[in-house]
Amino acid sequence: MNLSGKQLVLTGATGGIGAAMARRLSERGAALVLLGRNRERLDNLLRELDQPRHSYVAGDLSDAAGRRALVEHCRALPLPIDGLINNAGTSVFAPIDATGADELQALLTINLLVPMLVTRDLLPLLRRRDRAIIVNVGSTFGSIGYPGFTGYCASKFGLRGFSEALRRELANSSVSVHYLAPRATHTGLNSPSVDALNAALGNAIDDPRLVADALVTLLESESKAHYIGWPEGLFVRLNHLLPSLIDNALKKQLDTIRSFFPHKLSTKKNPDLTSSQRDLS
Ligand SMILES: NC(=O)c1ccc[n+]([C@@H]2O[C@H](COP(=O)([O-])OP(=O)(O)OC[C@H]3O[C@@H](n4cnc5c(N)ncnc54)[C@H](OP(=O)(O)O)[C@@H]3O)[C@@H](O)[C@H]2O)c1
Repeated sequence: MNLSGKQLVLTGATGGIGAAMARRLSERGAALVLLGRNRERLDNLLRELDQPRHSYVAGDLSDAAGRRALVEHCRALPLPIDGLINNAGTSVFAPIDATGADELQALLTINLLVPMLVTRDLLPLLRRRDRAIIVNVGSTFGSIGYPGFTGYCASKFGLRGFSEALRRELANSSVSVHYLAPRATHTGLNSPSVDALNAALGNAIDDPRLVADALVTLLESESKAHYIGWPEGLFVRLNHLLPSLIDNALKKQLDTIRSFFPHKLSTKKNPDLTSSQRDLS
């Protein structure tokens, strides 16, 4: 897809990766509908991009009202949208038994349910174009289950499954579906504990601009999927073919991973149980 003049919806536009994507897409001549919850950050981004063809919607996509505002905004545009980039997301780093039910629900909602609902709601508008594109931003952790990120991995595995099924469902249509999987990237998504863990394990951490470049390449080449980074791409394949190899490698990292958990686990274990239930468990 030639990006010049294309109208693209970008969720999570105010985040580390989203803002870098917005800058790159704007340089390529795309007209952007930027989505985030924080109006001030959206204002600043719009001012920085300094192009009258861009606009924004401030809203929480977990709420039906936020999604409705996005759809109404897109409907009111002079031309139908050409693309949707589902990039908004969040993360939790903690063992499952120290993770609250609300926390898990919010994580699965924004990372999995929201991209599904936004896609469903914007599909009629995308179908009005001869050619339209959807990109779901997943993660290496959408292919490799990683200790301490069970909820995040579940959400991103789900997003990858949704992307594959939707790609096949829309195979005979004008809308194509793509999947972009960044590895660890320097943004506010990662807590100081996660940054420290990555440093301790010697994991590469990308600049968000690299992810933005990968998005542009994916959009322009229309390749099905792109997994960023080496050796992460290899690990994804190995995990698929020989999962016990990755089981063993991660087992060796387990003590290190645990040492970076942010909470005092003895007091945080299963926060949804009452203290008497906790004593019994
Ligand atoms: N950073 C990494 O290491 C990494 C690695 C692999 C994949 N990814 C994926 O890349 C994507 C972008 O992540 P990032 O690192 O740029 O994260 P980030 O800096 O924390 O930004 C997250 C973005 O999502 C938006 N958002 C969160 N909840 C929302 C909600 N309920 N409604 C509307 N918008 C919401 C935030 O908007 P406001 O805060 O303004 O509301 C923000 O713009 C995510 O899908 C993430 O899973 C990141």
